[in-house]
Amino acid sequence: MDTMLRAIQNRRTIRKLKAQSSLTVQEIKEILSTVVDYAPTAFHSQSSRVVLLMNEHHRTFWNMTEEMMKQVLTPEKFSLSQKKIKGYASGFGTLLFFDDEKVTEKVKNQKDPRFEQQFVTWADQSSAMMQFAIWTIFSEKGLGASIQHFNPHIDHACREKWGLPAEWRLIAQMPFGDIDEEPIQKETLPTDQKLKILE
Ligand SMILES: Cc1cc2nc3c(=O)[nH]c(=O)nc-3n(C[C@H](O)[C@H](O)[C@H](O)COP(=O)(O)O)c2cc1C
Repeated sequence: MDTMLRAIQNRRTIRKLKAQSSLTVQEIKEILSTVVDYAPTAFHSQSSRVVLLMNEHHRTFWNMTEEMMKQVLTPEKFSLSQKKIKGYASGFGTLLFFDDEKVTEKVKNQKDPRFEQQFVTWADQSSAMMQFAIWTIFSEKGLGASIQHFNPHIDHACREKWGLPAEWRLIAQMPFGDIDEEPIQKETLPTDQKLKILE
């Protein structure tokens, strides 16, 4: 099978990670630079932002997230969430995906200010393209990763901790590292329920 198709087929959610990486930091940086430079964005706005947290920054992020979740979840839900957070925290690094709303706002005003919500949706979709590309490339190279959504609870703390612009809206978090669990194989709906081909 074609390498790209195989990579798409084999990518899985991996929540239990090791604090090591089969890719070098240089290789990880190269993947990230290529994806942020070439993944498409709506109207070529280039409003998507990615932050790579490693070492102490990665650990601090998950400590902050754990603390925040303790405040917002019931004790039962927190206990479940905490177990998963440990798996992410034990990874090699974390990617934070943002949208720079200053840029999105500017493009909206240039193009058509009436369609406020569409521009937010397109910004999310642009970020999702980056997330999927990175997740799939990591998987193809043997790294485990997952997508998490602890936003909006942690947005403010992140911006404050790492001095990020107030206009950066957090969209998703991607902890990654070498794999420390068997991926769950999920059933997929029959293809023809999701894909219609008219010819
Ligand atoms: C838009 C989107 C949001 C997701 N949010 C989360 C999330 O917050 N936490 C999580 O553990 N997985 C999240 N996932 C992962 C999905 O649950 C997972 O991809 C799906 O169940 C299929 O499993 P697979 O990734 O192993 O193929 C998300 C996936 C997508 C596409």
